Amino acid sequence: MTVVATRVRYIFGVLSIVLLGVVSLLVVPPPSIQSPSILAFLGRLHPIAVHFPIVLVPTFTVYYLFIRQGKIKEFWSILKIGWLITIGSTVVAVCAGYLLYASGDYGGKLVQLHLQGSVLVAVLLLIGALLVFQSRTPRQINRVLAVLLAANVALVYTGHQGGSLTHGEGFLADALPRASEASLLNKPLNESGIYQDLVRPILEARCMSCHNENKTKGDLNLATYPLMKAGGKSGDSILVAGLPEESELYRRIVLPQTDDEVMPPTGKSRLKQVELDLIEWWISEGADQEMLYGAGPADSMLASQIERYVPNLRGAHIQRIRSRQEFRSLYTAFKEAVTPLGLDVRVDADSDSSLFAVSVQFPSSMQVNDNTIGALRPYASYISSLSLVGTEISDDAFFHIAAMENLQELYVPNTAVDGSGMVYLKELAQLELLNLSNTELANPYVFHIAALPHLSTLYIFNTEVEPSIEEALATYRADVDVRHEEGPFNIR
Ligand code: HEC
Repeated sequence: MTVVATRVRYIFGVLSIVLLGVVSLLVVPPPSIQSPSILAFLGRLHPIAVHFPIVLVPTFTVYYLFIRQGKIKEFWSILKIGWLITIGSTVVAVCAGYLLYASGDYGGKLVQLHLQGSVLVAVLLLIGALLVFQSRTPRQINRVLAVLLAANVALVYTGHQGGSLTHGEGFLADALPRASEASLLNKPLNESGIYQDLVRPILEARCMSCHNENKTKGDLNLATYPLMKAGGKSGDSILVAGLPEESELYRRIVLPQTDDEVMPPTGKSRLKQVELDLIEWWISEGADQEMLYGAGPADSMLASQIERYVPNLRGAHIQRIRSRQEFRSLYTAFKEAVTPLGLDVRVDADSDSSLFAVSVQFPSSMQVNDNTIGALRPYASYISSLSLVGTEISDDAFFHIAAMENLQELYVPNTAVDGSGMVYLKELAQLELLNLSNTELANPYVFHIAALPHLSTLYIFNTEVEPSIEEALATYRADVDVRHEEGPFNIR
């Protein structure tokens, strides 16, 4: 066997293995990657990595178009490098995207479509490479070109899905209205967008607490029109133009209040009749994103009901915008205050998004100690989650933490605390989770922990607590789940 033939076989083998690997991403459910970790970090490179294939695939195709006239042999060595770089960068981008997906920042159907599209791009490129490495006759080159063109189409599709995904990402920024308050109030009804100015504010008020970019119940995100259209996990079409009864969005909201599938779920009040009728009319008119209200529904009863209802809807909408703007300024001020102290703030998506999760920066060069926690005082009541893993805090920090009346989760593993400061925490009525793993937590202080009224999960892996004390705790507080695991850190 010649050296060349061996090398071709070798390349063939490698390409086929990569191809199988990429396809397997579609079938293997993503593992759950804890953030921070090196894998989660690699995932965050995805938005940068995708630019390589986006530029390289079309460039490479154009290149092919020009040189295919029998000149392939002359250009072969350049082309070979082109193939390797294009395929390599595509595979890297796909894998990084997969890691990003696995680290749980994104979810939903749009992500799956995006993943499928990107795997298709990679597979097409790999098939093209397999063809080209196999033979370089002009006929074969035409096939390669066809595969490359298909890869471009798949790339545009994937890029579009990816674009819609990040579109829904800038949670705080996106939530701000495009129109100013005044123009919203004064906009004549006939110039109002049915979706933008009427339907969306209803969804925002009644559905988006569960169906937003951070909380996608049923894998459904109603925050933007394209995301809404993509639907949820059932795969049922959410909007069927002209057919409200076949649109999942409508079907769910008109179900009897006792039905398991009714939206908003049982326990929350139903939409008003005029809201149901308005949504029904919008869908029967085509469920369009841009359509204006114009003369309104032909049914004059409904038209007059809508006219009477709109001022309420707008009033409530503006109220929401104002409180969100206040929240946004608070967020900015809070972030500016704590970033230099080595802490990180983000909106806590689990707490109706009106509270903050504070954690140590990762990686960080700053030392976080009791004084740092003291500096959080002005914002104390806005903190729902505090993570101080591996910091220099002592039990004195609990004195400051006691002021965080809305605190639900406290993570202090790998610190030198022994629990003597726990006595301060007895006022924290909301505290549900406490992680004290790898600390000096000592027996006498366990009883302060037992006094926390809403505590439900406690991590005490590798502490000084003796089994007898733990038994006593288990008897006294059977509702607390005591775990001998390191537990989560809740930092990003
Ligand atoms: C309190 C949280 C909550 C609110 C508020 C809420 N939903 Fe849901 N929604 C869920 C949950 C949980 C699921 C998944 C279970 C299911 O399919 O019933 C879901 C699923 C759905 C689905 C099915 C998605 C699919 O394809 O599987 C639709 C459609 C939906 N919701 C529409 C709405 C609409 C419209 C509103 C507002 C009128 C709304 N939801 C308000 C929690 C909520």
